[in-house]
Amino acid sequence: MGTENTQKLERIQSEALEKLDTINDLKDLENWRVTYLGRKGTLTQVLRGLSQLPIEERRDIGSRGNQLKSLLEQKLSEKEESLKQADLERKLEESSIDVTLPGYSIQLGRTHPTTKILRQVCDIFASMGFEIVEGPEVEWDSYNFEALNMPKGHPARDMWDTMWVDYTDENGERPMLLRTHTSPMEIRFMERRDPPIRVIMPGKVYRYEATDATHESMFYQVEGLAIDKGITMADLKGTLYEFARKLFGEDRKIRFRCDYFPFVEPGVEVAIDCFVCHGEGCSVCGGDGWIEILGAGMTHPDVLRWVGYDPDVYTGFAFGIGLERIPMLMYGIDDIRLFYNNDMRFLKQF
Ligand code: PHE
Repeated sequence: MGTENTQKLERIQSEALEKLDTINDLKDLENWRVTYLGRKGTLTQVLRGLSQLPIEERRDIGSRGNQLKSLLEQKLSEKEESLKQADLERKLEESSIDVTLPGYSIQLGRTHPTTKILRQVCDIFASMGFEIVEGPEVEWDSYNFEALNMPKGHPARDMWDTMWVDYTDENGERPMLLRTHTSPMEIRFMERRDPPIRVIMPGKVYRYEATDATHESMFYQVEGLAIDKGITMADLKGTLYEFARKLFGEDRKIRFRCDYFPFVEPGVEVAIDCFVCHGEGCSVCGGDGWIEILGAGMTHPDVLRWVGYDPDVYTGFAFGIGLERIPMLMYGIDDIRLFYNNDMRFLKQF
């Protein structure tokens, strides 16, 4: 008769320990505790029934039952400990930083090809004693055209397709525009200063243009101006020759040919011999052997008069470089529109 309760305790023990082994979370562990050690738990039932037993069995089952109780309690707290530890480790693993992973690569910025060449151009002229000055992109008709020897209605204005600012003055005229070239800066600079002058004036210019591979509605120019007593065309040639050799190589030749710009007299178009084929003819120079790089000339006496300089005392030269053409030639870029449409595949190459 004593064996019945003993067997019961043995069953409880083996069943409880077996189940405990399969438990993986704290919720199941709590259920386990309720099943065996809770108020209505199987072991608790046995211990509660002790008073009903004959005295000698009571002692025996009592002590076995209490041993089992403390065994189960001990196993419970061990299991609880190990589950909590495992839980903590899992959480750490999920949220922690793996220092052995390679980091995100930092995207380094690059210099835009225009900026790169502009800096080189500025350095070259600075080394020859030229100042560097910037001016407004929204300009008056009077600076962009009139002061440069192109009064209203002058046919030479058609050389620059103009974007006008939508603003009319009291005469019903539109006097404001986006500068079509950097030449108005010549006027602004001469108005502020007396000769001698040696200055370059880089910046953006705008044209009302149907864009294609060689035409953009916005691009850069670098204007140059030198005014002093006794400046001649030889100074212009020498300066541009030096510039061409510093930028395109020591063995460069330059070619001057007549051209027309209303604000210079005489006006010239300047070309260098092709730095790829050295004049033989190739795809960079279009088979010609020469590459046009800028317009230039001796400052027109009327322009000097406009700013109050005496053309009998002072002479000077001016030039205007189309900047993008230089990196296009140097890097073999075949479409000017690539410069400003912000395509990283293009910009990353410089
Ligand atoms: N401003 C002229 C252009 O845009 C270039 C130029 C500048 C020509 C200075 C002569 C002297 O075409």
